[in-house]
Amino acid sequence: MASVALDAVSKIYPNGYLAVEHLDLQVADGEFLVLLGPSGCGKSTVLRMIAGLEEVTRGTVFLNGRPANDLMPSQRDIAMVFQNGALYPHFSVRENLAFPLQIAKDDHEAIRGKVVELSRALGIDQTLDRKPATLSGGQRQRVAMGRAIIRQPSVFLMDEPLSSLDTALRTELRLEIGSMTRELGITTLYVTHDQVEALTLADRIAVLRDGVLEDLGTPGQIYDDPATAFTAGFLGTTQLNLVVAQVQRCADGVLLDLGNQRLLVPWADPRARPLLGHFQQQVMVGIRVDDLVPTDDPRPGMFLDGRVVTLEYQGSSWTALVDAGITTAEFVPRPRPRPRRRSGGFFRRPTLEDAAPAQEHVGIHRRSHLMARMPSGMKWQRSTPVRLAVDPSRLLFFGADGRRVDPVIR
Ligand SMILES: Nc1ncnc2c1ncn2[C@@H]1O[C@H](COP(=O)(O)OP(=O)(O)OP(=O)(O)O)[C@@H](O)[C@H]1O
Ligand SMILES: [Mg+2]
Repeated sequence: MASVALDAVSKIYPNGYLAVEHLDLQVADGEFLVLLGPSGCGKSTVLRMIAGLEEVTRGTVFLNGRPANDLMPSQRDIAMVFQNGALYPHFSVRENLAFPLQIAKDDHEAIRGKVVELSRALGIDQTLDRKPATLSGGQRQRVAMGRAIIRQPSVFLMDEPLSSLDTALRTELRLEIGSMTRELGITTLYVTHDQVEALTLADRIAVLRDGVLEDLGTPGQIYDDPATAFTAGFLGTTQLNLVVAQVQRCADGVLLDLGNQRLLVPWADPRARPLLGHFQQQVMVGIRVDDLVPTDDPRPGMFLDGRVVTLEYQGSSWTALVDAGITTAEFVPRPRPRPRRRSGGFFRRPTLEDAAPAQEHVGIHRRSHLMARMPSGMKWQRSTPVRLAVDPSRLLFFGADGRRVDPVIR
């Protein structure tokens, strides 16, 4: 088994694109770490650098405490599972599973035994003599996983191994991956943009955004106590409402002025003081959709008024878009790094200085609708006035840079 560490690792592709920027990450021996982030944020690039399939531009990858930048992939004792399985098409399942052991020159009988044992554990023992083309997507992915696991690597890298499967199969295989990797105790880095996979599988989650580490913590910490507005938005099962407010004060606490309405954070709330550090400045208030529900008994400063614009049926409840006449914030991508420059008539290798530096969080503000949860069984119509209760202790507060106003302790 092995630990994996990245020390200030950056990756610039030959065209000058800064895909990963100054990434520090430690994965403990036997830990299951999920790299989570939207498409294009650099997740696969990180995995490929650890596997040795991609050169590290700057910084160091450590395997078991030893620098590994110059090791060949075959010297790293790492197995990788890709999104599409990538099996040898003209080999049978049996031959695909046996291949890594044959390379390692294991004893013939021992290989036979291991292949049968593993295929039973993975539920593919009935397919051993078939070719990959005759298997279902789920079976192919099981074979790919089996092939990676059969020689008991020190580190397991999985790049969205479930993304091509349907929902039922994803859930089934997700549970199996969780129990299998824990049973074997293999250090695992698992890439996904699916927050459910991240929350259910991970010991810890690393959130990546535009090649930069945005947040790192246990699933509980990342979900309940996100360090940034981006993480909070990415981890919510439905979109997080991000509302722009100006910080004011009154006798009872901090007032969040939304323009046409106000919310009150009482002095008893431990976040009231840190919020006051942004007195007369703009902050972003995160309100989870599930925390915004209709009320008949509003308390002053603890509700928002609006009108239902549209309703979406969700089975156990409705999601409503509510026009409350307030300003919301949203994310825009960081500007793209500049391409490779000509210097003195020659092309030179791009450096980190060529690539665009990480920008501060940018939130563009626009007037838009709140998303709220309406209980099923209630009768609602478009344009109905609605009063939504807001529990200040459930709100999240972010400064203009997207970072939490109150300290986040990990
Ligand atoms: N060989 C390459 N040359 C130039 N740019 C590249 C190269 N490979 C990847 N990139 C760019 O680097 C960025 C990160 O790519 P990467 O594949 O790591 O993203 P990802 O997070 O895995 O995305 P996805 O979820 O879509 O797989 C992307 O913007 C991508 O276009
Ligand atoms: Mg990828």
